[in-house]
Amino acid sequence: MYWGNSNPMGPKILVTGSTGQVGSELVPALREKYGADSVVAGLLPGLKATELGPGPEERFDVTNRSAVLSVLKKHRIQVVFHLAAILSAVAESRPDIAWTVNILGLRNVLEGAAEVGVSRVFWPSSVAVFGLGVPRRATPQDGQLTPTSTYGITKVAGELLCNYYFHKHHVDTRCIRYPGLISSKTRPGGGTTDYAVEMFEAALQGVGYTSFLSEDTTLPMMYMPDAIAAALRIMEAEPSRIRTHLGYNVGAMSFSPGQLAKSIRKRLPTFTCSYTPDARQRIADNWPESIDDSQARKDWGWSSAYDLSRTVDDMILKLADRLPPTEKSRLGGLLASLRRSSVARP
Ligand SMILES: NC(=O)c1ccc[n+]([C@@H]2O[C@H](COP(=O)([O-])OP(=O)(O)OC[C@H]3O[C@@H](n4cnc5c(N)ncnc54)[C@H](O)[C@@H]3O)[C@@H](O)[C@H]2O)c1
Repeated sequence: MYWGNSNPMGPKILVTGSTGQVGSELVPALREKYGADSVVAGLLPGLKATELGPGPEERFDVTNRSAVLSVLKKHRIQVVFHLAAILSAVAESRPDIAWTVNILGLRNVLEGAAEVGVSRVFWPSSVAVFGLGVPRRATPQDGQLTPTSTYGITKVAGELLCNYYFHKHHVDTRCIRYPGLISSKTRPGGGTTDYAVEMFEAALQGVGYTSFLSEDTTLPMMYMPDAIAAALRIMEAEPSRIRTHLGYNVGAMSFSPGQLAKSIRKRLPTFTCSYTPDARQRIADNWPESIDDSQARKDWGWSSAYDLSRTVDDMILKLADRLPPTEKSRLGGLLASLRRSSVARP
């Protein structure tokens, strides 16, 4: 592994937004790989880090510049995964907070990184950087960035900031444009693709679901193990492999709420889904349907492991684990057959 800095004690890593959907899976993955003591979990004051396991924690607000700097200095941080953010649906209704957290928070991290000599910063952008004037299918890496949502605007500005700090201050920033993320561990935090996790939860509880996006709204999506793998892979790549410090497109699969419902129904035949689009539909209507991630594949070897079918199987298995025993036994036959097919997969 190459972090661009040789430290005999190993890298000291800070993850902001640790309790979020990505952070709650990234922190344990980093702790397993680099040792629990090497990974500082950053969280908002007042939150509990129940699922992160043992390891150092720091409670601070990323919009507070001196707090960010003091954590970087205190732990002699060399690598930052900056995940703290306000997601798309919340950003649209609370643009002031979104602007402050997504732009000022990122700038504080980059300023601090430049000041104390952090060697590498990971920052997730989003497919929300795209909007009008680009092909919606196989949206290219260098497609025009004209988002129509507050969130998308903060992501374009964030990419430009990352690029600026790389060229002006030599902070090795690395960004990927995540599609909508699906996770079995942590509930989503107010995005436009939250319907997917909610649909799984309803299906497992044996109740119907009403999607807030229309049946045929196709969007690029990714299962969390792939999202974690992408973050690790780009951060571990040698500097010469990174050809842009704006965001890299990364893809895995594309589907609509109707296609997800159909795939769940194949495993849980009584599941029903209806569709009542709300304000989030407008955001989704201007996002890509699928993206071209050939540059990430070529530059630093990106490849995804989870398609829709494998994601649905794994989500059902993981979410079923949290059901009370009576509910779980109702699904006994299905779970046994999903376990068999997951073991048989290459
Ligand atoms: N989840 C997705 O579908 C998705 C898709 C594309 C990009 N992303 C990006 O990935 C990153 C992580 O997303 P996520 O899904 O984990 O988000 P999330 O909403 O689940 O978590 C965000 C975290 O940020 C923390 N936070 C918010 N404001 C803060 C502040 N002022 N100071 C410190 N912490 C603060 C929250 O407590 C939370 O733990 C974000 O940059 C997001 O834009 C996510």
